[in-house]
Amino acid sequence: MTDTTAPAAAPTARLLFVDDEPSILNALKRMFRGRGYEIFIANSGKEGLALLEQQSIDLVMSDMRMPEMDGAQFLEQVFTRWPDVKRILLTGYSEVTATIAAINRGKIWCYVSKPWNDEELMVTVEQALAHSHLLHENARLTELTRQQNEELKVLNAGLEQKVAERTAELRKANADLHQSFLATVQMFSNLIELREGRLAGHSRRVADLARQVAERLGLDAEEQRNVLLAGLLHDIGKVGLPDKLIEHAVTALPPLDQKEVMGHAAKGQQLLMGVPQLTQAARIVRHHHECLDGSGYPDGIAGLMIPLGARILAVANDYDALQSGSLLLRQCSPKEAREFIIKQRGKRYDPTVVDAFMALVGESELKREVEIPVAPADLKTGMVLTRELLHPAGYPLLPKGRVVDAAVMAELMRLQESTATPITVYIRRSSGPAVLRDKADEPPPRLWKEVALPVGRLLEGMMLSRNLHHHDGYLLLARGNHLDAAIIRQLRDIETASKKPITVHIRVDDR
Ligand SMILES: [Fe+2]
Repeated sequence: MTDTTAPAAAPTARLLFVDDEPSILNALKRMFRGRGYEIFIANSGKEGLALLEQQSIDLVMSDMRMPEMDGAQFLEQVFTRWPDVKRILLTGYSEVTATIAAINRGKIWCYVSKPWNDEELMVTVEQALAHSHLLHENARLTELTRQQNEELKVLNAGLEQKVAERTAELRKANADLHQSFLATVQMFSNLIELREGRLAGHSRRVADLARQVAERLGLDAEEQRNVLLAGLLHDIGKVGLPDKLIEHAVTALPPLDQKEVMGHAAKGQQLLMGVPQLTQAARIVRHHHECLDGSGYPDGIAGLMIPLGARILAVANDYDALQSGSLLLRQCSPKEAREFIIKQRGKRYDPTVVDAFMALVGESELKREVEIPVAPADLKTGMVLTRELLHPAGYPLLPKGRVVDAAVMAELMRLQESTATPITVYIRRSSGPAVLRDKADEPPPRLWKEVALPVGRLLEGMMLSRNLHHHDGYLLLARGNHLDAAIIRQLRDIETASKKPITVHIRVDDR
């Protein structure tokens, strides 16, 4: 039995009235009609339970005195089976014991004495339903919050993974880009070597040597890279020169031709300036033929005005050029080349650079004694030949000192196959693919303190605790350098010319 009185659009509370007296049920129905409720009625507790099994009910109002099953028993069963349904007992004054039982066992919301006051009963029902609604709403919101938290957790996990994936992608892209850049520089270096003809391998040897000197002088990873790149590309300005000018030592050429060859330093800078990553390397390239005493080219600058990278590159470049015969009119032995450089220490070359270079080359010469025979299939990029390699027919194929690259490896494999003669290449044992290695910039352990001093307070013998840069960005002096009168005087001159104060970090021994 149902009586729907709720407006169609409004959410409807469903009420069940249970009484064995039809007049009471009718009175209740009349009272709640038209107030937005859906009303169900039952004539006994049994009928009420049957209806509850079929319908979703929000509130039950039951009479106390009924045959078979009284209101207390009925409401107790309702509480046991449908605890969320609000329960109200209609009772007379004399039924105190049964009412107490309904309160205790049926956990009723409240009891209403008969005869009831319509207004009060209406308010009681509304309050019971409001309480029920609050409980439902609370449970709904708790569940919603729990679900949203779960979703948030999943979203967060996804987001973290996305960020991690994106970071990894960016890192890889960055590394790829860096590698492509180095590969491009390497390719240009190969082109220069092709153009150099008999000087093949010169750029790589110079680059490798110069970078090692830079490392020994304590330059940081970025400065070392600039020196390395400048070493690989230092003669790029020669690419457009005619063969006759490249094949002879500069000193053997007539003055006009000499001038043309000497233009390669400035031209090299111009060629590289367009690449932002090569700005500092380009400056080093420009000055790699400057001499410490100001007798070099293209600008004839002296001392600290020459970027440190260029002072390093000058020594490495000349050491190789002396041995290949492109600097003097004859080929020097390594020993003669070293003697030349020592003789020019403090004149043509920076003494600090010469000292670092000599220590390095001294060690390398010792290592060079050790060589190993390697078959073409076992060659690796970056290996250096310790002996000239002859073609099976007897003519020279690769010069001593040649750095192995992919082209060399492929060519030797092809040659071995076509001539059916095993080829043995002698390789410097210590050599590996060092030319393009990138080193992490690790700060040196500090066992000492430092003070920052203006140029006016510098004294001879003081040692630099940090690299000193010119205002223009290029490196003037490497940390570990000792100051002498000439250096202090030059710093003063640079300060005066640039009208900007220079601060020098000086090492103070902690012990
Ligand atoms: Fe050069």
